[in-house]
Amino acid sequence: MTAAGRNDGGPVPLREVSTPAEARAWRSERREAGERIAFVPTMGNLHRGHLSLVRLAREYAERVVVSIFVNPTQFAEDEDYGAYPRTPEDDRELLREAGVDLLFTPSAETVYPFGETAATRLHVPGLSEDLCGRFRPGHFDGVATVVCRLFCMVMPDVAVFGQKDYQQFLIIRRMTRDLSMPIGIVLAPTVREDDGLAFSSRNRYLSEAERRAAPELHGALGEIRESLLTGDRDYAALEERALARLAVAGFEPDYVGVRDARDLRAPSAQTRELVVLAAARLGRARLIDNLLVRV
Ligand code: PAF
Repeated sequence: MTAAGRNDGGPVPLREVSTPAEARAWRSERREAGERIAFVPTMGNLHRGHLSLVRLAREYAERVVVSIFVNPTQFAEDEDYGAYPRTPEDDRELLREAGVDLLFTPSAETVYPFGETAATRLHVPGLSEDLCGRFRPGHFDGVATVVCRLFCMVMPDVAVFGQKDYQQFLIIRRMTRDLSMPIGIVLAPTVREDDGLAFSSRNRYLSEAERRAAPELHGALGEIRESLLTGDRDYAALEERALARLAVAGFEPDYVGVRDARDLRAPSAQTRELVVLAAARLGRARLIDNLLVRV
């Protein structure tokens, strides 16, 4: 056996459970063995971005749990819940290759035993309403609600979230602090294609022509970052220029914003950690991206 408890003599089958009782029983065993547990919640259709979260998770704990659950409460009625790509067999293979210790695949009835409408819900005020929250009302309540439920089921020591969903990361970190959950929240850097496009399950909605245009989102954010680094603080003008650049490239932008990276408020003269965020539609895909900038 290796230090992480895996056999050296060939592929080990991926262990999979789907009830909270099984997940907790496994976690208790691992805890009794003195091991820490890192958790990567996902909605499946795994790509290199998710695998980088798994790799980072392994740096924080002896054991890594990944969940796959396409959460209905974070999709509005006119969004792509039904069409969201589901590739369970490919996902299992990737997780097995990545040496994940446990895959947790709860059903909707397990996650929402009283149904979605009667479910106890969480709302993280202040961080949830603006930016993506303005264009996807209720989305972050669904995210906070499901992540809280998954945390209660898996009870990890650490959980890892990708920077691409920076607003989501801040909301989950605030929720865990506010509810005194003993879980460390780790931010993992965005993984990009060679041309700068951030990996996302929704990239598969792009046509060939849209895929060629898609890196403009990263390009527009990069242009703002360069201006900020040269001392430009006319945030409104920088945002306007990026919106125009995206429109020329064929996007329908929802927003471009320069914010304080700690709380997503408008930056003050004292702000040193900025985040430049954008969301824009390109054909069927709604793409999001952001860059952290220290000034
Ligand atoms: O980022 C995601 O994939 C989802 O929002 C999450 C955190 C798994 C909750 O459903």
